[in-house]
Amino acid sequence: MRKVQFTETVLRDANQSLIATRMPYAAFEPILETMDKAGFYSVECWGGATFDSCMRYLNEDPWERLRNIKAKMPNTKLQMLLRGQNLLGYKHYPDDVVRKFVERSVANGIDIIRIFDALNDIRNIEVAVDETLKNGAIASAAISYTTSPVHTLEKYAELCAEMKEMGVQSICIKDMAGVMSPKESYDLVSAIKDKVDLPVILHTHCTTGLAFMTCLKAVEAGCDVLDTAISTFSGGTSQPATETLAYALRQLGYEVELDDAVLKQVNDHFKKYWEKTLADGLMDPKVMKTDTQALNYKIPGGMLSNLISQLKAQNAIEKLDEVLLETPRVREDLGYPPLVTPMSQMVGVQAATNVLLGERYKSIGKEVKAYLRGEYGRAPGPINEELQKKVLGDDKPLEGRYADTLEPLFEKTKAELGAKARSDEDVLSYISFPQVAEKFFEERDKVDSRTLRYTIERID
Ligand code: CO
Repeated sequence: MRKVQFTETVLRDANQSLIATRMPYAAFEPILETMDKAGFYSVECWGGATFDSCMRYLNEDPWERLRNIKAKMPNTKLQMLLRGQNLLGYKHYPDDVVRKFVERSVANGIDIIRIFDALNDIRNIEVAVDETLKNGAIASAAISYTTSPVHTLEKYAELCAEMKEMGVQSICIKDMAGVMSPKESYDLVSAIKDKVDLPVILHTHCTTGLAFMTCLKAVEAGCDVLDTAISTFSGGTSQPATETLAYALRQLGYEVELDDAVLKQVNDHFKKYWEKTLADGLMDPKVMKTDTQALNYKIPGGMLSNLISQLKAQNAIEKLDEVLLETPRVREDLGYPPLVTPMSQMVGVQAATNVLLGERYKSIGKEVKAYLRGEYGRAPGPINEELQKKVLGDDKPLEGRYADTLEPLFEKTKAELGAKARSDEDVLSYISFPQVAEKFFEERDKVDSRTLRYTIERID
């Protein structure tokens, strides 16, 4: 009987996808000790927007949250998502910062780091992978999934072989837009399994309604771990439901080690919180609807809604059809980047600009220029030469890794921050989100001085 394992996403991606990452630590603290007994392969709890949101909206130290989760869940592997050389953001950081971030993440409780790059440029994940392994954590490499004439099964399988060569212990297929079909997942998992002997994990979203079928076909092809969310926080733009897939897979003869009674307790807990988010208006019912437009236009749902709101703001919504025709052309010119942040914004804005100005590439965005100079990494396919020449002139695009051009930053920032930062973790929070962290530090100092006064009064 083949075993299928589960990564629970309620604390990270489900939280991010359904309620804009606004779940405070207090909302899930009481259930962590129970979750620890559920039998999850791992619990994804950190990275991505959770880190930013902790400081920006919840007045929480993200590192402290991580330590608290770890203390309550000593038996479950804690997992985070890392954008390779971009860490939690969209710009490239120098290697010393990447190494320090990984080292501190593991020291504060992370067991598995899922590392990906928007362009699948392997050079952008190698330092993070190396440092993860050095610190004794599990390095899982993720593929940003997309379809295009240059994204063949062979290319994906080769990419996975290179990742294995780097020492990663598992491969994740990251379908951030929920556009992967059951046939595509079956074919891709089969191709990867044929090429590399590593556990394969599938990460998808229910956005287009394909996810349950896509997960099932992935398992049939040999997928080992599925990303799912406890049922109350599943569906819509979130992951498929943990309990539902466990039920269906067991009936089909797969071994699932989850404890149903524990899952029910976990779900009962989050159900109460879900009702509160609905009552507070934190949960927009729109996130729960199945939206198949992404399948028609071959662009992620979030990108489509961004395009619509941008065109509306310019009083040009009647140009939407033209922009939707221009979008795949721009993507082709740029060598078919996966439409994940920041590429989705870059491609969308450039397509809209091309249409609104009535001339292609009359104005070229700053980010697109940097991309054409090679500053984001290697494009998956050939870039339109004419366009590249227009931006670069006679200059050659960067051949090496952009991070190699960056000066070390950690010690310098630490010295600049002085007493404002109480720890190396604070320095990393600041490097990742400078304004947000600065404000958070100030608020924290205020609260602490209040607490201090209060304590003194009590002593008196
Ligand atoms: Co996701």
